[in-house]
Formats: sequence, structure tokens, C-alpha cells
Amino acid sequence: MTPAPATPARFISFEGIDGSGKSTQARMLADTLRAHGHDVVLTREPGGSPGAEEIRRLVLEGDPDRWSPETEILLFTAARRDHLERTICPALDAGKIVICDRFADSTRMYQGLRGPGLRAQVDALHDLMIGQEPDLTVLVDMDPETGLSRALGRNGGEERFETFGQDLQARMRAGFRDLAAQHPDRIVTVNGAQDVDAVAADVLTVVEPRLR
Ligand SMILES: Nc1ncnc2c1ncn2[C@@H]1O[C@H](COP(=O)(O)OP(=O)(O)OP(=O)(O)O)[C@@H](O)[C@H]1O
Ligand SMILES: [Mg+2]
Repeated sequence: MTPAPATPARFISFEGIDGSGKSTQARMLADTLRAHGHDVVLTREPGGSPGAEEIRRLVLEGDPDRWSPETEILLFTAARRDHLERTICPALDAGKIVICDRFADSTRMYQGLRGPGLRAQVDALHDLMIGQEPDLTVLVDMDPETGLSRALGRNGGEERFETFGQDLQARMRAGFRDLAAQHPDRIVTVNGAQDVDAVAADVLTVVEPRLR
């Protein structure tokens, strides 16, 4: 029998490239865990608190060149700090399960991979101002072509990063996989190229043993 993990997973994030199915799976997991009697807070980044949602509008809407990557790192980190203070930490302190649609790994990839030295800045700022990782991260792995066609199939004004194209998506996929290899205790990879219910079943297989 596998021994129960030392810390139960209360803070769970979903990560992956655009259109991989993170929001769909985060929602489905929240519904399932609630049906099992858990108290769940479903939240997202950027955003998840009133102040961070205001920053979300600043970073996701408008011209792709609106912010430099460095400014973006600051804005995302500011949003994350507010989200942690106002939403995530209070929920964890109250004994709830927090499911977060994207967290710091997204900044490590989306901003960290856009130029030399940026990843080190992301990590330094994270250590200084955030200092917290999820207990468990579900990486929804997906090929960029399918992911991008799914993401672009939806309407909305939040397309700043989706116009970055397939090359960056491919590098981010590889980057997410590297992160998963570096943090095998925290990050578990699930195959996103299956139908929605099959992905959800795999997610539950990963999450359930970690709740105990
Ligand atoms: N397993 C799946 N098979 C087919 N379509 C899916 C699957 N999962 C999600 N979708 C659809 O693909 C689109 C993108 O899914 P979703 O919004 O969950 O992805 P996401 O990873 O949150 O995207 P983004 O990075 O843009 O936030 C949605 O229209 C969703 O209904
Ligand atoms: Mg989403």
C-alpha cells in the first residue's frame, strides 16, 4: 500500500498551455469534490480577488505590446499577492480546498520564456513576494495545435497571449513538462487530448489519494 502523503492537498492548481482544458477541468473537479461533501473555493489567475481582477483586465486586454515582459511580471505578481492575501490564504485557513485555474507556473512559462533572464526575475520576485506553491499541480498536457484551435474557438476580449502563436505554445509545453520533471512531488501530468470525461477521471485519480 502506498503511504498517505505527509501533507494533504488543500491548494490545487491547474496548469497547461492555452486551450488545454484547465478551466473545464478545474470546474469539473470543484463540482465533484463538492458533491463528495468538501468545502471548495474555485478561483483563477490572473484574478481571483477584486483587486486582482482589475489587474487581469490590464494584462489580458488590449495591444499585445501594451506591457514589456518585465512590467507584466510585476503586474502578475501584484495580482497574485492580492489573490493570496484576500482569497487563497483565508480559504485555506478556514479548512477549505482551493482549486486555482493557473498559478505561478503560468508566470514562469508565459513571462519567463519570453526573453533571456526573465525566468530568473520571475523566480526572484516569486521568492520575495509570494513564497508559496500549491500542494498539488495538475498539468493538463496538450499539443499546441489542438490547444490553440480550441482557445481561438471561443470568443472574448482576453486574447493577448493567444496571438503569440504556436512556436511559443510549443516552447511553453516543453517548459511545463520540464517543470513537472523538476517537481515530481508537486506536479502531476494528465493527458488533455482525451474527451472531457476521460480527462476528468484521470484528474480525480490524481487528486483523490492526495486529499487524505
Ligand atoms: N477534453 C476536451 N475535448 C474537447 N474540447 C475540450 C476539452 N476540454 C475543453 N474543451 C473545450 O476547449 C475549449 C478550451 O477549454 P478550456 O477553456 O477549459 O481551456 P483552458 O485551458 O482553460 O484555456 P485558456 O488557457 O485559454 O484559459 C473550450 O471551448 C472547452 O469547452
Ligand atoms: Mg481557462
